[in-house]
Amino acid sequence: IGRELVFFDETDSTNLRARELGDNGHPEGTVVIADRQTAGKGRLGRYWASPPAVNLYTSILLRPPILPYDGPQLTFLSAVAVARAVEEIGGLRPLVKWPNDVLLGGRKVAGLLNEMNAETEGVRYIVLGIGVNLNMRPEQFPDDLRYPATSLAIETGREVSRLAFARALYRHLDSLYGEYLTSGFPPVIRAWEEMCDLIGRDVEVDCQSRLIRGRVEGLDTDGGLLVRAEGTLEKILAGDVRPLER
Ligand code: BTN
Repeated sequence: IGRELVFFDETDSTNLRARELGDNGHPEGTVVIADRQTAGKGRLGRYWASPPAVNLYTSILLRPPILPYDGPQLTFLSAVAVARAVEEIGGLRPLVKWPNDVLLGGRKVAGLLNEMNAETEGVRYIVLGIGVNLNMRPEQFPDDLRYPATSLAIETGREVSRLAFARALYRHLDSLYGEYLTSGFPPVIRAWEEMCDLIGRDVEVDCQSRLIRGRVEGLDTDGGLLVRAEGTLEKILAGDVRPLER
């Protein structure tokens, strides 16, 4: 990962750039980084605040030999890699939040937006879009955030080197991805579950206008969250998960 690296001072979204490279046959492991994004994308068409010089905005092009159904597994792989980099560089223990966030002190420090280009026979490419709030200051966050946010600098009280963080991230991604190609998803599930504080806890899930209450049992092979509710095991594929009071 990172053998081919494309850097922009400014671009609309690194995910769009990486998808173009994917369409044009660039090899897997190609990395796009931008100092700032003018149209940073979050999940569900939301906006990702991307001011210059403070954070990491990066997209990684992968070509895993998997079926489209397994594509979401890469989201959990990238969450674990980001969490490991946060731990290494910040010296703090982050948590992962299903499906695609990394939290510090209960606030979101990183978001993931993975996009897949696939046909029924297989995946052409996957773009892992990763945004990490490194040195962002409180006044730089938009006020209409859906979820409280923070940055590594706010949590540690010191400036973080973007280069050091990026190197740690690509190294962790590289080793996890190598393990994934040889051993599949189970090692990623185990690593992710260790960093998820909701396992074994009672939660409430807003799931397509249905409200499910139950206990989280873990992650399924397709990335769904397994919740035991009144004796039946429900698989959550999309929705908002909130812990019930302890
Ligand atoms: C989310 O939490 O909603 C996902 C946010 C993903 C943001 C990153 S920043 C780099 C890459 N380029 C984008 O436009 N989005 C992702």
